[in-house]
Amino acid sequence: MPSTAIIGTGFHVPDRVVSNAELTGLMDTSDEWIVERTGIRERRWVREGESGADLARRASEMALEDAGCEAGEVEAIVLATLSPDHFFPGTGVFLQRELGLAGIPSIDLRAQCSGFLYGLQVADALIRSEQYRTVLLVGVEIQSTGLDLSTRGRDMAVLFGDGAGAALLEAIDGGDRGVLSTHLWADGRHAETLWAESPSACRHPYVSAADLDAGRHYPTMDGRDVFRHATRRMPEAVETALEAHGLAASDIDLLVPHQANLRISQMVQRRLGLPDEKVVNNIERYGNTTAATIPIALAEAVRAGRLEPGDLLCMVAFGSGFTWASALVRW
Ligand code: COA
Repeated sequence: MPSTAIIGTGFHVPDRVVSNAELTGLMDTSDEWIVERTGIRERRWVREGESGADLARRASEMALEDAGCEAGEVEAIVLATLSPDHFFPGTGVFLQRELGLAGIPSIDLRAQCSGFLYGLQVADALIRSEQYRTVLLVGVEIQSTGLDLSTRGRDMAVLFGDGAGAALLEAIDGGDRGVLSTHLWADGRHAETLWAESPSACRHPYVSAADLDAGRHYPTMDGRDVFRHATRRMPEAVETALEAHGLAASDIDLLVPHQANLRISQMVQRRLGLPDEKVVNNIERYGNTTAATIPIALAEAVRAGRLEPGDLLCMVAFGSGFTWASALVRW
């Protein structure tokens, strides 16, 4: 049975930088509050006319170039997002069209902040089952256009950013390299703890003026509850992954956690007993880009020379659903 190797990574973020200071002009907040509670100093937001498919294409092109591959070598696309360009069809087909790959399958996947790792399990299964040899896995998000930028929405609005990250995955001959395992979980009992109620196909109609007036299209969250669950589930997810291979936290060479909040990542780091140089944090510059945080952070870590062949890479995520996930990769 083949294994799945990550042979290229890439990312793209909009060029519009939105600082904490800029947000203080829109809502009652402060740079101190945001930095102290979240670690975020700035994020990137799209300009009008930029689409998720555009961000995804640019991230994908960087991943293809990194791998030394042509777009035509991609045999399937798996794209994770909670903010599709359109209700349907999914952003995956728009990316496929932009890459000129008519005919290959394109799977859209919704697992919010865990989307990239859910996608990794799907892509890994497609490769291990020998249905496809080369799969493009993308996490992309445009959060900024859906945020309540008034003081009412400040708990959410300061957290989120836009961006895309991509990984090119390829079948390699067995051995102990590549994706060692992926573990996924979900608990829909918490679905409304972090969600957007509208638009909704079970409302009559999907979107109404009353929904807009009430702000039901804005995401809402019980931040403390999310924080409590994230700081428990993420270390547990890593420990489960390590136990499956008889490994210990000290065997991890690089941890790429979902960038939800610097305090969450620091608590995960402490529980695992990892030194700073083994943990990737870039939330300071991008905020939480949901399904894109892990592939963006991975692409940056690769470019910074933080992964050597043979290193043990661990990725872990937690998000709306709740969903959470971990993955181990022998680089
Ligand atoms: N600026 C200033 N004040 C703000 C604010 C903002 N952007 N957002 C909320 N506040 C206020 C609250 O209204 C509250 O005021 P009150 O005490 O007068 O009611 C106060 O700050 C404390 O709010 P609280 O929610 O208790 O703060 P917190 O320490 O829990 O931090 C989060 C809030 C959102 C940063 C934190 O809960 C968190 O990060 N949760 C996880 C969120 C997350 O990661 N979501 C995505 C998961 S993938």
